[in-house]
Amino acid sequence: MIIIDGKHTAEEIYSELRKETEKIVSSGKRPPSLVAILVGNDPASTHYVRSKEKIAKKIGFSSQTIHFPISITQEELLQEIKKLNNNPDIDGYIVQLPLPKHIDEQEIIFAINPDKDIDGFHPLNLGKMLVQSEGFLPATPYGILELIKRYDINTVGKKVVIIGRSLIVGRPLSILLNQKHVGGNATVCVAHSKTKNLKKLTLSADILITALGKPEFVTADMVKEGVVVIDAGINQIEDKNSAKGYKLVGDVKFDEVSKKASYITPVPGGVGPMTIAMLMVNTMRAYKNKIIS
Ligand code: GUN
Repeated sequence: MIIIDGKHTAEEIYSELRKETEKIVSSGKRPPSLVAILVGNDPASTHYVRSKEKIAKKIGFSSQTIHFPISITQEELLQEIKKLNNNPDIDGYIVQLPLPKHIDEQEIIFAINPDKDIDGFHPLNLGKMLVQSEGFLPATPYGILELIKRYDINTVGKKVVIIGRSLIVGRPLSILLNQKHVGGNATVCVAHSKTKNLKKLTLSADILITALGKPEFVTADMVKEGVVVIDAGINQIEDKNSAKGYKLVGDVKFDEVSKKASYITPVPGGVGPMTIAMLMVNTMRAYKNKIIS
Protein backbone atom coordinates (compact mmCIF):
# COMPACT_ATOMS: atom_id res chain seq x y z
CA MET A 1 0.00 0.00 0.00
CA ILE A 2 1.30 3.41 -0.98
CA ILE A 3 0.25 6.52 0.93
CA ILE A 4 -0.29 9.40 -1.50
CA ASP A 5 1.54 12.24 0.20
CA GLY A 6 -0.30 15.40 -0.83
CA LYS A 7 1.73 17.53 1.54
CA HIS A 8 4.99 16.47 -0.10
CA THR A 9 3.58 16.90 -3.62
CA ALA A 10 2.26 20.36 -2.71
CA GLU A 11 5.75 21.26 -1.41
CA GLU A 12 7.23 20.19 -4.77
CA ILE A 13 4.78 22.49 -6.53
CA TYR A 14 5.59 25.36 -4.13
CA SER A 15 9.27 24.90 -4.81
CA GLU A 16 8.61 25.08 -8.60
CA LEU A 17 6.46 28.21 -8.16
CA ARG A 18 8.94 29.87 -5.79
CA LYS A 19 11.75 29.48 -8.36
CA GLU A 20 9.52 30.92 -11.09
CA THR A 21 8.53 33.88 -8.87
CA GLU A 22 12.17 34.59 -7.99
CA LYS A 23 12.99 34.76 -11.71
CA ILE A 24 10.08 37.15 -12.35
CA VAL A 25 11.03 39.44 -9.48
CA SER A 26 14.74 39.46 -10.35
CA SER A 27 13.80 40.60 -13.87
CA GLY A 28 12.25 43.71 -12.28
CA LYS A 29 8.57 42.74 -12.55
CA ARG A 30 6.10 42.58 -9.70
CA PRO A 31 5.22 39.13 -8.31
CA PRO A 32 1.84 37.43 -8.91
CA SER A 33 -0.83 38.71 -6.54
CA LEU A 34 -3.99 37.19 -5.12
CA VAL A 35 -6.76 38.19 -2.78
CA ALA A 36 -9.17 36.16 -0.67
CA ILE A 37 -12.53 37.59 0.32
CA LEU A 38 -13.75 36.27 3.66
CA VAL A 39 -17.23 37.05 4.95
CA GLY A 40 -17.97 36.37 8.61
CA ASN A 41 -16.00 34.30 11.10
CA ASP A 42 -16.65 30.67 10.24
CA PRO A 43 -13.66 28.85 11.83
CA ALA A 44 -13.06 26.46 8.89
CA SER A 45 -13.22 29.28 6.31
CA THR A 46 -10.93 31.49 8.44
CA HIS A 47 -8.46 28.62 8.74
CA TYR A 48 -8.42 27.95 4.96
CA VAL A 49 -8.01 31.62 4.08
CA ARG A 50 -5.15 32.04 6.58
CA SER A 51 -3.41 28.95 5.14
CA LYS A 52 -3.78 30.33 1.61
CA GLU A 53 -2.28 33.67 2.62
CA LYS A 54 0.63 32.03 4.48
CA ILE A 55 1.50 29.81 1.52
CA ALA A 56 1.17 32.60 -1.05
CA LYS A 57 3.68 34.66 0.93
CA LYS A 58 5.99 31.66 1.32
CA ILE A 59 6.31 31.33 -2.45
CA GLY A 60 6.81 35.07 -2.96
CA PHE A 61 3.33 36.04 -4.16
CA SER A 62 1.72 39.15 -2.85
CA SER A 63 -1.40 38.15 -0.93
CA GLN A 64 -4.12 39.83 1.01
CA THR A 65 -7.33 38.82 2.79
CA ILE A 66 -10.25 41.24 2.72
CA HIS A 67 -12.48 40.46 5.67
CA PHE A 68 -16.10 41.62 5.79
CA PRO A 69 -18.64 41.30 8.60
CA ILE A 70 -21.40 38.74 8.19
CA SER A 71 -23.85 41.66 7.83
CA ILE A 72 -22.42 42.75 4.43
CA THR A 73 -25.19 43.14 1.85
CA GLN A 74 -25.34 41.62 -1.63
CA GLU A 75 -24.87 45.08 -3.19
CA GLU A 76 -21.86 45.91 -1.03
CA LEU A 77 -20.20 42.58 -1.85
CA LEU A 78 -20.88 43.08 -5.57
CA GLN A 79 -19.24 46.52 -5.34
CA GLU A 80 -16.13 44.97 -3.76
CA ILE A 81 -16.00 42.39 -6.56
CA LYS A 82 -16.22 45.16 -9.14
CA LYS A 83 -13.24 46.88 -7.48
CA LEU A 84 -11.16 43.69 -7.64
CA ASN A 85 -12.21 43.09 -11.27
CA ASN A 86 -10.94 46.55 -12.19
CA ASN A 87 -7.76 46.55 -10.09
CA PRO A 88 -4.80 45.88 -12.45
CA ASP A 89 -2.55 44.94 -9.53
CA ILE A 90 -4.69 41.91 -8.60
CA ASP A 91 -4.18 38.86 -10.84
CA GLY A 92 -6.68 36.56 -9.18
CA TYR A 93 -9.03 36.31 -6.25
CA ILE A 94 -11.38 33.94 -4.51
CA VAL A 95 -14.56 34.44 -2.56
CA GLN A 96 -14.41 31.92 0.26
CA LEU A 97 -17.52 29.73 0.37
CA PRO A 98 -19.98 29.16 1.90
CA LEU A 99 -21.36 32.69 2.04
CA PRO A 100 -24.03 33.72 4.59
CA LYS A 101 -27.59 32.67 3.75
CA HIS A 102 -28.78 36.19 2.83
CA ILE A 103 -26.18 36.37 0.03
CA ASP A 104 -26.97 34.95 -3.42
CA GLU A 105 -23.82 32.90 -3.95
CA GLN A 106 -24.48 32.29 -7.64
CA GLU A 107 -24.84 36.00 -8.42
CA ILE A 108 -21.53 36.65 -6.64
CA ILE A 109 -19.69 33.92 -8.55
CA PHE A 110 -21.15 35.11 -11.88
CA ALA A 111 -19.82 38.63 -11.12
CA ILE A 112 -16.19 37.48 -10.84
CA ASN A 113 -14.05 38.41 -13.85
CA PRO A 114 -13.39 34.95 -15.42
CA ASP A 115 -9.76 36.00 -16.10
CA LYS A 116 -9.27 36.45 -12.33
CA ASP A 117 -11.37 33.43 -11.28
CA ILE A 118 -8.54 31.33 -9.81
CA ASP A 119 -11.11 29.04 -8.12
CA GLY A 120 -12.47 28.09 -11.55
CA PHE A 121 -16.09 28.47 -10.32
CA HIS A 122 -17.31 30.96 -12.95
CA PRO A 123 -19.56 29.33 -15.60
CA LEU A 124 -17.19 30.46 -18.38
CA ASN A 125 -14.33 28.50 -16.80
CA LEU A 126 -16.59 25.53 -16.05
CA GLY A 127 -17.73 25.65 -19.71
CA LYS A 128 -14.14 25.82 -20.93
CA MET A 129 -13.36 22.76 -18.82
CA LEU A 130 -16.27 20.94 -20.47
CA VAL A 131 -14.97 21.64 -24.00
CA GLN A 132 -11.31 21.14 -22.98
CA SER A 133 -10.28 24.71 -23.71
CA GLU A 134 -7.66 26.42 -21.54
CA GLY A 135 -9.29 28.11 -18.53
CA PHE A 136 -9.00 27.76 -14.78
CA LEU A 137 -9.80 24.32 -13.34
CA PRO A 138 -11.42 24.18 -9.89
CA ALA A 139 -8.58 23.71 -7.42
CA THR A 140 -9.63 20.50 -5.62
CA PRO A 141 -10.41 18.42 -8.76
CA TYR A 142 -7.27 19.87 -10.38
CA GLY A 143 -5.26 18.82 -7.30
CA ILE A 144 -6.67 15.29 -7.41
CA LEU A 145 -5.81 15.04 -11.13
CA GLU A 146 -2.29 16.24 -10.37
CA LEU A 147 -1.87 13.58 -7.63
CA ILE A 148 -3.09 10.90 -10.06
CA LYS A 149 -0.54 12.08 -12.66
CA ARG A 150 2.41 12.50 -10.30
CA TYR A 151 1.80 9.08 -8.70
CA ASP A 152 1.40 7.56 -12.16
CA ILE A 153 -1.95 5.98 -11.31
CA ASN A 154 -3.48 4.32 -14.36
CA THR A 155 -7.01 5.57 -14.98
CA VAL A 156 -7.46 4.28 -18.55
CA GLY A 157 -10.60 2.12 -18.73
CA LYS A 158 -10.79 1.98 -14.93
CA LYS A 159 -14.07 2.19 -13.08
CA VAL A 160 -14.08 5.33 -10.94
CA VAL A 161 -16.78 5.84 -8.34
CA ILE A 162 -17.08 9.36 -6.92
CA ILE A 163 -19.29 9.82 -3.87
CA GLY A 164 -20.58 13.40 -3.87
CA ARG A 165 -21.82 15.62 -6.71
CA SER A 166 -20.86 19.08 -5.43
CA LEU A 167 -19.98 21.85 -7.86
CA ILE A 168 -16.65 22.29 -6.08
CA VAL A 169 -15.43 18.66 -6.22
CA GLY A 170 -17.56 15.73 -7.43
CA ARG A 171 -19.21 17.14 -10.55
CA PRO A 172 -16.13 18.75 -12.18
CA LEU A 173 -13.94 15.82 -11.18
CA SER A 174 -16.29 13.37 -12.92
CA ILE A 175 -15.80 15.32 -16.16
CA LEU A 176 -12.01 15.57 -15.86
CA LEU A 177 -11.55 11.85 -15.18
CA ASN A 178 -13.79 10.91 -18.08
CA GLN A 179 -12.11 13.13 -20.70
CA LYS A 180 -9.44 12.09 -23.19
CA HIS A 181 -6.15 13.14 -21.58
CA VAL A 182 -3.48 11.82 -19.22
CA GLY A 183 -5.21 11.02 -15.93
CA GLY A 184 -8.55 10.63 -17.74
CA ASN A 185 -10.19 8.01 -19.98
CA ALA A 186 -11.91 6.40 -17.00
CA THR A 187 -15.48 5.12 -16.76
CA VAL A 188 -16.95 7.38 -14.12
CA CYS A 189 -19.97 6.94 -11.91
CA VAL A 190 -21.11 9.71 -9.56
CA ALA A 191 -23.00 8.55 -6.47
CA HIS A 192 -24.99 10.86 -4.20
CA SER A 193 -27.48 10.88 -1.36
CA LYS A 194 -30.24 9.33 -3.51
CA THR A 195 -28.07 6.53 -4.90
CA LYS A 196 -29.45 3.05 -4.25
CA ASN A 197 -27.25 0.18 -3.08
CA LEU A 198 -24.13 2.32 -2.68
CA LYS A 199 -22.09 -0.56 -1.26
CA LYS A 200 -22.57 -2.64 -4.42
CA LEU A 201 -21.30 0.32 -6.42
CA THR A 202 -18.28 1.12 -4.22
CA LEU A 203 -17.30 -2.58 -4.23
CA SER A 204 -17.07 -2.39 -8.03
CA ALA A 205 -14.71 0.65 -7.98
CA ASP A 206 -11.09 0.41 -9.13
CA ILE A 207 -10.70 4.01 -7.96
CA LEU A 208 -12.93 5.37 -5.20
CA ILE A 209 -13.09 9.12 -4.58
CA THR A 210 -15.02 10.54 -1.65
CA ALA A 211 -16.26 14.10 -1.37
CA LEU A 212 -19.40 13.88 0.72
CA GLY A 213 -18.33 15.39 4.04
CA LYS A 214 -19.32 12.51 6.32
CA PRO A 215 -16.66 11.46 8.82
CA GLU A 216 -15.28 7.92 8.23
CA PHE A 217 -18.29 6.97 6.10
CA VAL A 218 -16.47 4.46 3.89
CA THR A 219 -15.52 1.26 5.72
CA ALA A 220 -13.37 -1.70 4.66
CA ASP A 221 -16.38 -3.87 3.75
CA MET A 222 -17.33 -1.28 1.08
CA VAL A 223 -14.14 -1.55 -1.01
CA LYS A 224 -12.42 -4.24 -3.02
CA GLU A 225 -8.85 -5.45 -2.55
CA GLY A 226 -6.33 -3.24 -4.40
CA VAL A 227 -8.62 -0.20 -4.71
CA VAL A 228 -7.14 3.30 -5.14
CA VAL A 229 -8.77 5.59 -2.56
CA ILE A 230 -8.76 9.38 -2.80
CA ASP A 231 -10.43 11.09 0.13
CA ALA A 232 -11.40 14.74 -0.38
CA GLY A 233 -13.37 14.93 2.88
CA ILE A 234 -12.17 17.10 5.75
CA ASN A 235 -14.33 16.61 8.85
CA GLN A 236 -13.82 17.74 12.42
CA ILE A 237 -14.71 15.17 15.07
CA GLU A 238 -14.48 15.39 18.84
CA ASP A 239 -11.17 14.18 20.29
CA LYS A 240 -10.76 14.50 24.04
CA ASN A 241 -7.06 13.53 23.78
CA SER A 242 -6.23 16.52 21.60
CA ALA A 243 -5.51 19.96 23.08
CA LYS A 244 -7.90 21.48 20.52
CA GLY A 245 -10.68 19.08 21.56
CA TYR A 246 -11.12 17.82 18.00
CA LYS A 247 -9.27 16.06 15.21
CA LEU A 248 -9.58 16.03 11.43
CA VAL A 249 -10.72 12.88 9.65
CA GLY A 250 -11.71 12.15 6.06
CA ASP A 251 -14.79 10.48 4.60
CA VAL A 252 -12.90 7.17 4.72
CA LYS A 253 -12.07 5.05 7.76
CA PHE A 254 -8.37 5.20 7.00
CA ASP A 255 -7.02 2.53 9.39
CA GLU A 256 -9.17 -0.29 8.03
CA VAL A 257 -9.59 0.79 4.38
CA SER A 258 -5.84 1.35 3.93
CA LYS A 259 -5.28 -2.39 4.61
CA LYS A 260 -7.14 -3.24 1.39
CA ALA A 261 -5.99 -0.28 -0.75
CA SER A 262 -3.12 -0.15 -3.24
CA TYR A 263 -2.95 3.66 -2.93
CA ILE A 264 -4.68 5.92 -0.41
CA THR A 265 -4.65 9.60 0.55
CA PRO A 266 -4.53 10.43 4.28
CA VAL A 267 -6.52 13.21 5.99
CA PRO A 268 -4.94 15.57 6.78
CA GLY A 269 -2.02 15.66 4.34
CA GLY A 270 -3.67 14.23 1.21
CA VAL A 271 -6.03 16.21 -1.01
CA GLY A 272 -6.23 19.32 1.25
CA PRO A 273 -2.71 20.66 0.62
CA MET A 274 -3.16 20.07 -3.13
CA THR A 275 -6.20 22.38 -3.25
CA ILE A 276 -4.08 25.29 -2.05
CA ALA A 277 -1.18 24.30 -4.33
CA MET A 278 -3.39 24.33 -7.43
CA LEU A 279 -4.89 27.67 -6.41
CA MET A 280 -1.34 29.03 -6.53
CA VAL A 281 -0.74 27.37 -9.93
CA ASN A 282 -3.91 29.11 -11.18
CA THR A 283 -2.69 32.43 -9.77
CA MET A 284 0.62 32.09 -11.64
CA ARG A 285 -1.34 31.32 -14.81
CA ALA A 286 -3.60 34.37 -14.32
CA TYR A 287 -0.48 36.51 -13.86
CA LYS A 288 1.20 35.18 -16.99
CA ASN A 289 -1.99 35.51 -19.09
CA LYS A 290 -2.15 39.18 -18.11
CA ILE A 291 1.52 39.96 -18.66
CA ILE A 292 1.53 38.27 -22.07
CA SER A 293 -1.79 39.68 -23.28
N1 GUN B 1 -14.89 26.44 0.40
C1 GUN B 1 -14.47 25.16 0.45
N2 GUN B 1 -13.57 24.91 -0.53
C2 GUN B 1 -13.43 26.07 -1.22
C3 GUN B 1 -12.64 26.44 -2.34
O1 GUN B 1 -11.90 25.65 -2.94
N3 GUN B 1 -12.78 27.74 -2.75
C4 GUN B 1 -13.61 28.62 -2.14
N4 GUN B 1 -13.69 29.86 -2.62
N5 GUN B 1 -14.35 28.29 -1.10
C5 GUN B 1 -14.26 27.03 -0.64
